[in-house]
Amino acid sequence: YKPTLLIFDEHGDVLFGNTGPVAEELLQNNQLHLQDEKSVEQITLRHGDKFYVVKRKLESNTQTIGWVVLLSPEKEIARSTEELKLLAIMLGSLGLLGWVVIYLLTRKLSEPIKDVADAAKQIVTGNYDIHFQKNVKEKEIYELIHSFKDMTDRLRQLELMRTELLAGVTHELKTPVTSISGLVQAVRDEIVTGEESKEFLEICAKETNRLQKMVEDLLDFNTYAMGDMKVSKELLNMNELIQEITHQWLIVQEEDSVKLTTLLPEQSITAATDPLRVQQILYNLLNNAKQAVVGNGTIEVSLSGHEREIRIDVQDSGTGIPEEERHLIFERFFRGKQKKHKVRGLGLGLPFSRMMAKSLGGDLQLKQSSDAGTTFTIVLPK
Ligand SMILES: Nc1ncnc2c1ncn2[C@@H]1O[C@H](COP(=O)(O)OP(=O)(O)O)[C@@H](O)[C@H]1O
Ligand SMILES: [Mg+2]
Repeated sequence: YKPTLLIFDEHGDVLFGNTGPVAEELLQNNQLHLQDEKSVEQITLRHGDKFYVVKRKLESNTQTIGWVVLLSPEKEIARSTEELKLLAIMLGSLGLLGWVVIYLLTRKLSEPIKDVADAAKQIVTGNYDIHFQKNVKEKEIYELIHSFKDMTDRLRQLELMRTELLAGVTHELKTPVTSISGLVQAVRDEIVTGEESKEFLEICAKETNRLQKMVEDLLDFNTYAMGDMKVSKELLNMNELIQEITHQWLIVQEEDSVKLTTLLPEQSITAATDPLRVQQILYNLLNNAKQAVVGNGTIEVSLSGHEREIRIDVQDSGTGIPEEERHLIFERFFRGKQKKHKVRGLGLGLPFSRMMAKSLGGDLQLKQSSDAGTTFTIVLPK
């Protein structure tokens, strides 16, 4: 049986509707009780099937003009409530599933982040040895972990450099002091006499000078690192300035194993800059170059003018800077592995020179380096 809609006129005759066997039986037995005021009624048929009858009187100007009756088998109603139940269960489980998915997803995302947070705590305690789960697929988290790793590596490097620096500086300062005291003692105790003692004192004077120079560098660097560097610019003929500086540098060099050439453009270049600072930078670069070349190497200083800037290249035919050290050479106190054991120094030349170039409005860059030599470029504004 299906629900049936019936419309009656005022006499109780069927106007519209499919009078199936159910309706027929009800009409025959006069079970519809149209005149009754009750709007919902339960009726039991002969076979025992239960039906609900819903009826509504149609009125026009208080006159009854008919009835609308809906017959619905009880089973049908029960079935629809069952369907509703099923729907509710389905919706419920769908919601639950949603929660589970969200939970799993957040866990998957939050776990690597938690790892990073734990690693950060670990670093605070000074332990830089951290490991992350490898297969993270989410791009953002992958990037986070990677930058974190880079940061850790950098921190580790700085920490290492800090320790090495202290040891290095102490060593650099201690060595000349030890040799001076030994030499002086030898002269005082008259172990050496005459010409030889004079020579000893000569070496002492040189060592003292070097020591003084290093202490000055250290103090200068600290002063400049804290505040702005003072520069006094003046308009200069750069060709003349470079010529003068290289000439002066060459005079001081004792041995003439090193060949220095200067390449200047035909037309003079003028720039507003501080000659003393340019000299300091060039001296640092030239000293480094000289220390890098072995035997009869060459150094070449070349000046060139560009649209907005001038460039001074200092090229040497030295040993070059190993690839893995190139990004470190401008760090304070960094010293190359090879050089550390050969030449004394504090590792402040390049960082200090770069600081000076920047305070002049320019920069100092490593242009190239290979085992055939190295080129540094000083860039200055015009
Ligand atoms: N011209 C060069 N050729 C090869 N290595 C260089 C050159 N200039 C600098 N370096 C490297 O860069 C490091 C840092 O240089 P610098 O700051 O001047 O310190 P220092 O000269 O006291 O070692 C050096 O220890 C050396 O390893
Ligand atoms: Mg140096």
